[in-house]
Amino acid sequence: SLPTTVTLLDVGPRDGLQNEKQIIATDIKVDLIARLGAAGLRHIEATSFVSPKWVPQMADAAEVMARIVRLPGVSYPVLTPNLKGFEAAMAAGATSVAVFAAASETFSQKNINCAIAESLQRFEPVMAAARAAGVPVRGYVSCVLGCPYEGEIAPQAVADVSAALFDMGCDDIGLGDTIGTGTPGKAQAMIAAVARRVPVDRLVGHYHDTYGQALANIYASLEMGLSHFDTSVGGLGGCPYAKGATGNVATEDVVYLLDGLGIATGIDLEALVDTAAWISEQLGRPPASRVARALLAK
Ligand code: HMG
Ligand code: MG
Repeated sequence: SLPTTVTLLDVGPRDGLQNEKQIIATDIKVDLIARLGAAGLRHIEATSFVSPKWVPQMADAAEVMARIVRLPGVSYPVLTPNLKGFEAAMAAGATSVAVFAAASETFSQKNINCAIAESLQRFEPVMAAARAAGVPVRGYVSCVLGCPYEGEIAPQAVADVSAALFDMGCDDIGLGDTIGTGTPGKAQAMIAAVARRVPVDRLVGHYHDTYGQALANIYASLEMGLSHFDTSVGGLGGCPYAKGATGNVATEDVVYLLDGLGIATGIDLEALVDTAAWISEQLGRPPASRVARALLAK
C-alpha cells in the first residue's frame, strides 16, 4: 500500500538555480525561499557551499543563509562537498547539510574532481564535524539510473555507494537520477538493490525529469515504500556537470499527483503554482511544469 503522507524537499533554490548562466540576484533567491516556505514546504534546499570557480551561481551561499527568514519547523539544508564547505556552512548558520557522491567514477571526477573512494574519504571529517555539532547529514548519490559519460549504471554500484554513505553516518540517502534517463522498472530494481543495504525509510527519490519519466518513477518508488522525494518548483534545474540534464521533477506536478492519490503533503498547490509563475518570470521564461501551465491558463 502507498504511504499516507509524503515529505518533499524543494531543491529549486539550489539544484534549480545552480545551472542558470545569468547570475541571479541574492534578493531573488531569498524571496524564492520565503515563497516556498509560505506555500507550505517544510524542507527547502537553500544553497551550496561549493567552490565559486566551479559553480559561480552559488558564490553568495553565505549571504543567502544570512538573509533568509527562517520559519519555525522548516529546515534549510545546504550542500557541503568537503570540510571547507562544511565550516563555511556552519559559520553561516546552516543546521542541516549534504555531502554528494556518485555511482559513476567518471561523473565523480567531473563533478567533484576525485574518485568515488577519495570522495568518501573526504566526507569522513565532514561526518565527524557534523556529528560533533549535532547536524544531520544527507548523502546524495548521483547517476543512480544512468550516467552522462558511462551510460548504464549497475544497481549494485548504487547500493555500494549508498551503503558506504549510510554506514559512515548519513541520516538519509538521496538517490539522484541526475540525467532523468530512468524508467519505473529500472527504478524499482535499483531501489530493491539499495534497500538490501539501507532501510527504505531512509531513501529519498531525487529524480530529474529530462525524459518526462520522473512522475512515473516517483509512483514506482511509492510502491517500493519510499515516502521522501526531492522536487523543484517550476521544474527548475539541471547539473552543470551533466550536459543536457534538465530540471528536477516540478514540485507542483508531484503535489498534484499526491493530492490525487489522497496522500498528504501539507503544501498549498495554488501558492506553489504562483511561486512557479513568479520565479519563471524572474528567469524570463514560462514555467516548465504541466500543472503550472494548466492552472495558470485557467
Ligand atoms: P578542487 O579544485 O579539487 O578543490 O574541487 P581543491 O580542494 O583543490 O580547491 C580548489 C579551490 O577551491 C581552492 O581555492 C579552494 O579554497 C576552493 P583557490 O586556492 O584555488 O583559490 N574550495 C572551495 N571554495 C569554497 N567552498 C568550498 C571549497 N572547496 C574548495 N567548499 C570541489 C573540489 C569539490 C571543491 C569542486 O569540485 C566543487 O566545488 N564541486 C562542486 C560541483 C557542484 O556543485 N555540482 C553540483 C552539485 S551536485 C548535483 O547537482 C547532483 C545532485 O543534485 C544529485 C543528482 O541530481 O544527481 C546533488
Ligand atoms: Mg540533482
